This record gives sequence, C-alpha cells and structure tokens, in this order.
Amino acid sequence: MIIGIGSDHGGFELKEEMKKFLEENGYQVKDFGTHGKESVDYPDYGRIVGEAVVAGEIDKGVVICGTGIGISISANKVKGVRAALCGDVYSARMSREHNNANIIAMGGRVLGVDLAKEILSAYLKSEFQGGRHERRVNKIAEIEG
Ligand code: RB5
Repeated sequence: MIIGIGSDHGGFELKEEMKKFLEENGYQVKDFGTHGKESVDYPDYGRIVGEAVVAGEIDKGVVICGTGIGISISANKVKGVRAALCGDVYSARMSREHNNANIIAMGGRVLGVDLAKEILSAYLKSEFQGGRHERRVNKIAEIEG
C-alpha cells in the first residue's frame, strides 16, 4: 500500500516522525513535502495529497498542519476526497469504518508522537464497513455534484 504524506511547516516534524513510522511498518511512503521548517501555505499540501489520492497515485493520504484544520479543509475541497481530522483512536477507526476516509489529517502542534502513531495505525488497519454507510458516503459525493 502506498501512503502519501504532506504537511506545512506546522506539521513538518510530525510528518517526519510519521513517515519513519510508516516505513518501519512496511508501508511505501510518497512524501509530498514540505521538506523543512520554513513557512509555507498548508492549502498547497492538502491539495497535492488530495489530488494524488483521487488520481489513484497513492492509496491513502496523511496530511498534517499545526492543528490539522486548514490542511483538512483544503484537502476536502478536492472532489472525491474524504479527509478526516482525527485527534483520537476511536475517531480514526470510525473514519474508515463509517466514512471511508481516504485521507487522515492530524495536528502537529496538538498531538504527541506516540498518540499520533496510534491514531495512524488505527486508521490504516480499519476497513470500510459498507452497507448503510455506503449509502451515506454516496450522498456525500452527491453534494459534490
Ligand atoms: C500555520 O501557522 C498554521 O496556521 C497551520 O499550520 C495550520 O494550523 C492551519 O490550520
């Protein structure tokens, strides 16, 4: 499974940690930047990861900014993206099981590294349950038009 990862400067350090964690756990990682602590604009990174997941270039995406808010809003503007901002393990699991989230967003200035690893693991190990949830996810797509 190829995981795309992207962040702004506020998420850079956590991105580096998550990238290492993913590689250690056997995932192939595509890093969309940013590659340093200089100030950049989070919409650029939410967009590029969002477009990659919709294009099928990556299987799932991880986006990180300071709070996770700006980058998740940005990724969600790409048609076909369902980005879930998660700060706990339960939400991460549900974002897959119920919402079929194709991107997880996290806050680099909010989460500790160990919690972020648990959240990311829960997200990646959980599967969409389909059924009634499929109907609801399809309705999200209808809103997109
Ligand atoms: C950048 O300072 C900060 O605004 C950004 O990382 C993010 O938290 C926005 O939602």
